[in-house]
Amino acid sequence: MQKKTMWLVVLVLAVLVLAACPAPPPPGAAAPAVNSDSTQQTAALPTPLSGELNLLCTPQVQWCEGMKAEFERANPGVTVNFVRMSSGESLTRLRNEKENPQFDIWWGGPIDSFIAAKQEGLLEAYASPNAALIKNKELMLDVDNAWAGIYVGSLGFATNTNWLAEHPGVEAPASWDDLLKPEFTGQVLVAHPSSSGTSYTAMCTILQLKGEEAGWAFLKAYAGQMLQFTKSGAAPAKFVGQGEAAVGIVFSHDIVAEMEKGSPMVLTFPAEGTGYEIGGMGIIKGAKNLALAQAWFDWALLPTTQELGPKYEAFQAPTVEGAKASRPELLEVKLIDYDFDYCGSNKKAFIDRFTNEIANADALKE
Ligand code: F6P
Repeated sequence: MQKKTMWLVVLVLAVLVLAACPAPPPPGAAAPAVNSDSTQQTAALPTPLSGELNLLCTPQVQWCEGMKAEFERANPGVTVNFVRMSSGESLTRLRNEKENPQFDIWWGGPIDSFIAAKQEGLLEAYASPNAALIKNKELMLDVDNAWAGIYVGSLGFATNTNWLAEHPGVEAPASWDDLLKPEFTGQVLVAHPSSSGTSYTAMCTILQLKGEEAGWAFLKAYAGQMLQFTKSGAAPAKFVGQGEAAVGIVFSHDIVAEMEKGSPMVLTFPAEGTGYEIGGMGIIKGAKNLALAQAWFDWALLPTTQELGPKYEAFQAPTVEGAKASRPELLEVKLIDYDFDYCGSNKKAFIDRFTNEIANADALKE
């Protein structure tokens, strides 16, 4: 080989060797970590959830069934067992099971009952990362994370339009006082406040609007107008739609749900102001499936979950950023400044008084 060619080969080899070597770190830079394992490392995948979740569900059964199916679809390893119970019944059940809880999470029903449950030590605090999505945290998130708000709904009156047509000159009630008119005597349906959160919301609305003294007198006359008390809060909307009574006092979203199915009803609101609910959820103290309860809690605060309501005939307004209300007009009415702490803290005392002094809870219509 000629001398010139040999130098060229040496030069090419030197360039190739330099290119294969990593550049030395700049002065002061940390030396790169040495991976002793020669195999490629991958990011750890989250372990899929599995097991059974026992859910106490207070909204209407179609929504409970829908939520069960949606959660199981998102978490194929999980089975959700739910029991649908009205708010007051749920609270009683949780009290009775305090030493050996059978449910992991309670989802739905006005927060008055969750406030009472927290005060009785029945709820387990949980700071969900998704609670950051709640729009009005002051109102809709417990300061100690015992419960979180998942929907909002206003109280309204449902009146059967066929009954109105048969009673010319009678108009659908447009105030709480209208409910006491003689033409409605024996024609009104509402749930009993001991079993139903809807009815308790109506009762506590009256006590706030009128003040306690006048409020209790009004409640006595109001109870005298009833055809019967029902067990569940939404039931009067169904019965009024079927023509069993003229007027029902129900959450407006439940009235709308019946009207969407073709029930001949008109929805009105009391002009002086109506009460409203924040539907809550909370994990049960001593929950046996805590991780699953927390997963449900997180999931229930996602906008995509809250927008599922109308798919299952539930028209409550969502509580989180990014979720759109299906029927915003139901909250664009005059609402009272409902005091949830007052109503939650006095729930047992008010219900005992109503049951003992005004109307007992025997033979509730189902
Ligand atoms: O899902 C219907 C609904 O009206 C909810 O909005 C409410 O929280 C719940 O039912 C109350 O049920 P009840 O009056 O039977 O306790």
